[in-house]
Amino acid sequence: MGELVKVTAVSEVPNNEGRVFEVKGQQVALFNVDGKICAIENVCPHRGGPLGEGSLDGAIVTCPWHGWQFDVTTGQSPVNPAASVKTFPCKVEGANVSVEVE
Ligand code: FES
Repeated sequence: MGELVKVTAVSEVPNNEGRVFEVKGQQVALFNVDGKICAIENVCPHRGGPLGEGSLDGAIVTCPWHGWQFDVTTGQSPVNPAASVKTFPCKVEGANVSVEVE
């Protein structure tokens, strides 16, 4: 069972953008997909690029380093079934976002 940790205010994650937060020592990227907050690990499995700094198009983030892409709602690459990133359950309570981490 993970621990639900309050991370930030929803207003800190603008619509259709990503932001990076440290949650219990882990780098977590939060994205706002048309009002729905999603959380994935910030580390790209290619070479460790900061996914939370990538551009978001719909639910797809593009890694700023070499362009690998991931669906932030599932963690899956849309083109390579073998490539994925970890997702974290997240919850919006009032004005705040909480993320469940191990
Ligand atoms: S580190 Fe993300 S695409 Fe290379």
